[in-house]
Amino acid sequence: MPRRKIAAGNWKMNKNYDDALQLIRDISATNPPKEIHTVLAVPSIYLKNGVDMLMHIIGLDVAAQNCHQEPSGAYTGEISASMLSSISVPYVVIGHSERREYFHENSQQLASKVDVALSNGLQVIFCCGESLDIRKSGNHVPHVCKQIRESLFHLSDDQWSNVIIAYEPIWAIGTGETASPEQAQEMHQALRTMIANEKSSNIAENVSILYGGSVKPANAKDIFTGEDVDGALVGGASLNADGFKEIMDALARS
Ligand code: PGA
Repeated sequence: MPRRKIAAGNWKMNKNYDDALQLIRDISATNPPKEIHTVLAVPSIYLKNGVDMLMHIIGLDVAAQNCHQEPSGAYTGEISASMLSSISVPYVVIGHSERREYFHENSQQLASKVDVALSNGLQVIFCCGESLDIRKSGNHVPHVCKQIRESLFHLSDDQWSNVIIAYEPIWAIGTGETASPEQAQEMHQALRTMIANEKSSNIAENVSILYGGSVKPANAKDIFTGEDVDGALVGGASLNADGFKEIMDALARS
């Protein structure tokens, strides 16, 4: 799949049922721009509503926020990739830093999740990003490159066409502090260059790389100036339809 402009919202563990439905209605009322691709990662309990309302009525896409690495089995409380595809969910977010940190998901497990997701026909939004300590040490680029190598480099060229990368520096997630447009561009360019050198220039040219970490209406336009920045993965600001609309519009104009 060629590079696309993608605005992805990540609702995380927010919104009770009535509020979730209201947010879907509010997003619909903003008339989201058609020139970009919009994906909303809703809590799994609302995925079916997302498919029925966001996808079939409004024309936006839906993502799960996680899936299990095994195809099926005795994993109480978990959701499989095949369950997601059985209700027509097209995307799954894998490797979010909150999953890595609070649920101890490691690179190998994430590689298995990517495999099971792709083999069930899902597109993967794969998250990577460094902690503040690593950023301060100056090793952020090698660290994030390693995350990508460890979980994605075993994939074939065809499989890569269903992968989107989301670079999310942990120090910028939910903190109000955002990477500068230069910091975002530096990492996105470094990832694209590494993929070109170590996998193929075709994959590097075609993979969409999103930035995430306190993207807001006030900073979206500047973030999107980066040549290698193809969109955003938005947490907090995606919980408000008007704010998210401003981010979608900024991407459409970029
Ligand atoms: P944030 O979250 O926009 O609230 O910083 C981003 C994310 O975790 O995907």
